[in-house]
Amino acid sequence: MLAALLLAILGLAVSSVMAVKQHDFKLCHQSGFCSRQRAVAELVEKFPTLGPNYKFIESSLKLGKAGVEFKIVEQSHIGGSVQPGGDELLVTLDILKAAGTVRVRADPVVAKDQKPRYKSDEFVLTSVPEKSNLKVASANDKDVHYEWTHDSAKYAFVVEKSPFTIRFYVNGDEAISMNDHDLFFYENQIVKEEPAPAPPADQNAAAEDKKVDERSDDEKEFDRLKEAVRKDQWAEQFGSHHDSKPHGPTSIGLDISFPGSKHVYGIPEHATSFALKPTRGEISGEPYRLYNFDVFEYELNSPMALYGSIPFMLSHKKGQTVGVFWQNPSEMWIDVEHKSADSTTSHWMVESGSFDIFVFLGPHAAAVLDSYTSLTGRAAMPQSFAIAYHQCRWNYLDEADVQGVDGNFEKHDIPYDVLWLDIEHTDGKRYFTWDNAKFPNPANMQSDLAVKGRKMVTIIDPHIKKDDNYHVSSEAKSAGIFVKNKDGSDYEGWCWPGSSNWIDYTNAAARSFWSKKFLYNQYEGSTPTLYTWNDMNEPSVFNGPEITMPKDLVHHDNVEHRDVHNIYGMLQHRSTYEGHLLRSIDNDRPFILSRAFFAGSQRYGAIWTGDNFARWDHLEASVPMLLSIGIAGQSFSGADVGGFFGDPEPELMVRWFQTAAFQPFYRGHAHIDTKRREPWIYGEPFTGHIRSAIRTRYQLLPYIYTLFRESTVSGTPVMRPLWYAFPDDEATFAVDDEFMLGSAFLIKPVVQKDTAETEVLLPAGSNWYDYETLVKVDPSASGKLNVKTPLDKLPVFLRGGSIVPRRDRIRRSSALTIKDPYTLVIALDEKGEALGEFYNDDGRSFDYKKGDYVYAQLEFRDNTLRCTSPVAKYTDVSAKISKPKFTGHDSRVERLIIVGVHSKPKRVVSSSGANLEFTFAREGGVVVVKEPQGVFGKEWHVAFEF
Ligand code: NOJ
Repeated sequence: MLAALLLAILGLAVSSVMAVKQHDFKLCHQSGFCSRQRAVAELVEKFPTLGPNYKFIESSLKLGKAGVEFKIVEQSHIGGSVQPGGDELLVTLDILKAAGTVRVRADPVVAKDQKPRYKSDEFVLTSVPEKSNLKVASANDKDVHYEWTHDSAKYAFVVEKSPFTIRFYVNGDEAISMNDHDLFFYENQIVKEEPAPAPPADQNAAAEDKKVDERSDDEKEFDRLKEAVRKDQWAEQFGSHHDSKPHGPTSIGLDISFPGSKHVYGIPEHATSFALKPTRGEISGEPYRLYNFDVFEYELNSPMALYGSIPFMLSHKKGQTVGVFWQNPSEMWIDVEHKSADSTTSHWMVESGSFDIFVFLGPHAAAVLDSYTSLTGRAAMPQSFAIAYHQCRWNYLDEADVQGVDGNFEKHDIPYDVLWLDIEHTDGKRYFTWDNAKFPNPANMQSDLAVKGRKMVTIIDPHIKKDDNYHVSSEAKSAGIFVKNKDGSDYEGWCWPGSSNWIDYTNAAARSFWSKKFLYNQYEGSTPTLYTWNDMNEPSVFNGPEITMPKDLVHHDNVEHRDVHNIYGMLQHRSTYEGHLLRSIDNDRPFILSRAFFAGSQRYGAIWTGDNFARWDHLEASVPMLLSIGIAGQSFSGADVGGFFGDPEPELMVRWFQTAAFQPFYRGHAHIDTKRREPWIYGEPFTGHIRSAIRTRYQLLPYIYTLFRESTVSGTPVMRPLWYAFPDDEATFAVDDEFMLGSAFLIKPVVQKDTAETEVLLPAGSNWYDYETLVKVDPSASGKLNVKTPLDKLPVFLRGGSIVPRRDRIRRSSALTIKDPYTLVIALDEKGEALGEFYNDDGRSFDYKKGDYVYAQLEFRDNTLRCTSPVAKYTDVSAKISKPKFTGHDSRVERLIIVGVHSKPKRVVSSSGANLEFTFAREGGVVVVKEPQGVFGKEWHVAFEF
């Protein structure tokens, strides 16, 4: 009876979530602070005679060795929150040790605050950023000037006193400016004023009439905008939801411009183009919004907020990439505008928290990413299985189903590594439990997979079913670690299990509680090959405002939800990650997939783009979405292969498998209402094409693993935009229908039905080979190439000058290949040269941090391939392991494939002087050398004599 009632109520909740559409989410004008800050922008633009909104206080200037500090005061022109006399802010600019990085902060001198401004350093930054002090400083009555160098780059910033502006320069070229358009507007919290008593009705009306009569249109507009700057300061309503805003207006607005740059990127997550389209100026649209949401059936080409938020924007122009990161997990809206033909201005509007901006002056993308991830953390090194193929569905029904799916992969000769269980595997959506009728022997089920080197993943969401008989619920309740209402009681909302409470991961006690739940003796039925999926952690609350938590809820230490919303998911991800470390005594690299994310999530593992559709345009959108996420430091990401909602036609399924084989996270997934869609369901020729896409992925795992390792030390994305490799080629700057995997592969996905032929842009400056045929291609002068695309053909090109390590023997799972030898594909550039790398370790533990890995540098030059093993590449190695356990130090190379060779060699000779067996194919100039007598980890070479 009770169960039936619950089901009925849950049905209601689910059907209400099914109705989610755009009107469930705010537009800028429905958000108090967004409309206030946009009104400031309008006011400043329409009434330039107002003069600058902030004034530099001369007497406050302190030139320091590591940077500068000074005060500015608000001029009360705009009149949002200021008291007579204006508000003073202390501004500091610190030059950091991270190359080309400046931290800019502004804090109220006298906080009128009832509550301190929230600072998220402890959760977002990995340590206190170190200041550098190698700079030349000077000041005069107009400005303050700092200059410093790093490697060969010259950096500078100039604080102009009037009008107050900060400009950043790289090698003498202005790269970034702040407040150039006078949109800086800081709402220092104010004491609520009681409204003045209204005059008697008739007097009031007469006064109003008079006012209307006398005001000019300009005055009316001015008054309207001034009024708009004060809109919804103390409370606001959205639909039936009320936000009490007990602390009043606390927002911050600032314009950040990129002179000379037409393209900005990043600030994921949005389902839109990679190069961000303007939202103001030539078009009038909605700003990009950053507020983690569970958006049901999200729309494409939209600036709407999605599951994750990374307030990190990059700008790229010829010869220069720079970035800005606003460290603040509260809600943001960002307008993008081309105020002049060749420059871009962004207007950042932030609801609460701190003014804390990191400026990255590059000048190259790699330097920006390196500095950004040196502050927010390097990506976790995935286990080797994690980058192989994952099979998921909502839901695999029971143990027999799991066994059947697993067996079918073998039957159809398709490799895979991980089988996933969605929410239905639990006992009534009580996470950390099993439905005992359907999964009576979970440990055996996992070990049946494990004997084939396979793993399992179960879903663990942050909402905890309200049920005193459920241990997680009762223990968390008595530990007082749920998110609270304003009155101190536990907040209750609706999600999959019905009425639920939410763990407050901002609380260290809650994180430790959560982590312990992953111990084998606490999570019954879990084994060392079981990993975790954190979903619904925006958090998703079916009956909450905009399907999430009310902003006036209270977290640990009296922090409002408003201040920490965008890190909630990351903190669940972190606690789960820490739980996996705990259960393995720090010896097994965790694999955790999260849907919500923030700056720093890269430290805890993978994310995916949520509930996409089985539609061609969603396949297309996966490319810009994943590029934006990758360029924002989150290198391990993917989109549901096949599309979550709906039933993909076989052709779409094939195209999706082909594309995603070259993207970082590779998982097929489907909604509960969809038809079965495992690779063998489609029959030939489709299953065959899917098989070969997955096998291509497995061949390339050594190359992809090497890319991931590189990402863990430098922040370099695994999946990259074309301009990352071709920074001076303007034709690449807005390209987002092609992408690169590392620096060797260029992929042009086929994203339309019945595409018989497609045009590919192959940037100049490199020669290119068709990866399938290994034949050199000949694009037009503008770099265009028409490629035939029958269903078995994905246009993939190998860049001349690359060396790619592969494993060509395909087995049931990646774990079963660890003793297999390697193939090197060497694609020569115009000079007959090529470079590459190889990295491997035990694929699972942290011993690589103690030096237990093999790294090889590969170089082809002067007709000779050389393999060396320099030791200095990985600086994150903390100690030396006493007894190396990794057995792959002597991995054999069984084959070389050299492409682009001008003529047949007379002899191919090994390091020991032996003549090696080889073949030569004139088409493509492909030389294949058998058993070149090389092993990674040793120095060797192979010489080609012509
Ligand atoms: C929403 C997730 O995005 C989806 O992947 C999952 O299958 C459902 N929740 C059910 O857990």
